[in-house]
Amino acid sequence: MKLTKLAAALCATAALPLAAHATELEVTHWWTSGGEAAAVAELAKAFNASGDVWVDGAIAGGGDTARPVMISRITGGDPMGATQFNHGQQALELVEAGLMLDLTDVAEANNWKEIVYPPSLLDACTVDGKIYCAPVNIHSPEWLWLSNKVYEDLGLPVPTTWTEFVASAPQVEAAGKIPLALGNQNWQSNLAFGAITIGVGGLDLWKQVNVDKNMDAAAGPEMLAVFQAAADARKLAAKSTVQDWNQATNLVITDQAAGQIMGDWAQGEFQVAGEVAGKDYTCLPGLGLNEYISTGGDAFYFPKNSDPEIEAAQKRLAALLVSPEVQVAFNLKKGSLPIRGDVDLAAANDCMKKGLEILAGGNIVPAGDMIWSPDVQTQLGDLQAEFWKGQEMTPEEAQARYVEILKSGL
Ligand code: GAL
Repeated sequence: MKLTKLAAALCATAALPLAAHATELEVTHWWTSGGEAAAVAELAKAFNASGDVWVDGAIAGGGDTARPVMISRITGGDPMGATQFNHGQQALELVEAGLMLDLTDVAEANNWKEIVYPPSLLDACTVDGKIYCAPVNIHSPEWLWLSNKVYEDLGLPVPTTWTEFVASAPQVEAAGKIPLALGNQNWQSNLAFGAITIGVGGLDLWKQVNVDKNMDAAAGPEMLAVFQAAADARKLAAKSTVQDWNQATNLVITDQAAGQIMGDWAQGEFQVAGEVAGKDYTCLPGLGLNEYISTGGDAFYFPKNSDPEIEAAQKRLAALLVSPEVQVAFNLKKGSLPIRGDVDLAAANDCMKKGLEILAGGNIVPAGDMIWSPDVQTQLGDLQAEFWKGQEMTPEEAQARYVEILKSGL
């Protein structure tokens, strides 16, 4: 369904209170890569154009570094005006401690319940019936990104599945290329494992373990096969010595590596590098094996502030983030999908279109950040980092520890 540009503009104008006078809001986030910075600049531009002032509070080092800083500022009485979290359980304790602004009035004034899709995004912002975050995108981790040139130079077809990718890896390696680029941060290993679980293990297995929380399935032979596939994959990443996810993406962009398992935020890097989806790089959602995407992503939360001017500006920003124009401008740069179905992403590239088709088809699953607590997610990341980077731990040992960690989160 497409809103006409005029109708969208009228809707947006009608529901967005304009600033009586400029109020500065400090906004913290961890978007510091090229693509991320280009995307967050669209949010800042829109907020500044609306009459308020976006004071950028970017924190480098990724979410695992930024979130403890954000949380300590909020709990320590030095709150920012707004902050990014992945929607789900990351901000739950802050909300339960009464530290975060209730946005239910903004959500009702702007019909978020009718327009946010899938509804699980808003459910992930809702605690005891009240809404505490403005979702801004849908990001799915389960993608394989491929350098077309690496395969063209080898006279090989670009893989269409993870299976073909693994089968062609020996020739890629023999040509002096890194088969699989992987950064050295725990969440990246955990992300790769999650994608292999859905891609290789399949959706039913993923749901049994992560939705039904069936520990017999987690300890079963099918999950062992996933750990074996991950053990095969870690060999392909052994020579990837970069740290940050976007450095690993850059190995693919510069054709030093053949592929990377990474979320669709990698698109922002390809775009900033001027690479064209389908021509320069190929994207395989669900690793080309099971085209499902998990509907996690980013949202903005607003620490309570005693200054009514600040609170009014916080609510203006929350409404703006969900507006049609900002959703299009931001997500096209971020490489993510919009949180509303009534916007026209005509400029979406082939990969975003693949994601939109999967979303429209309902082939979606909830995200790990919505299912498991931050503590369980951190423990899973630590385990996967040891498994992938250590290259020593056996699939059997890893599975046993995996089950224990999940059991601790039940
Ligand atoms: C995720 C976030 C994405 C992207 C990624 C890498 O948690 O949802 O927007 O920034 O981290 O930093």
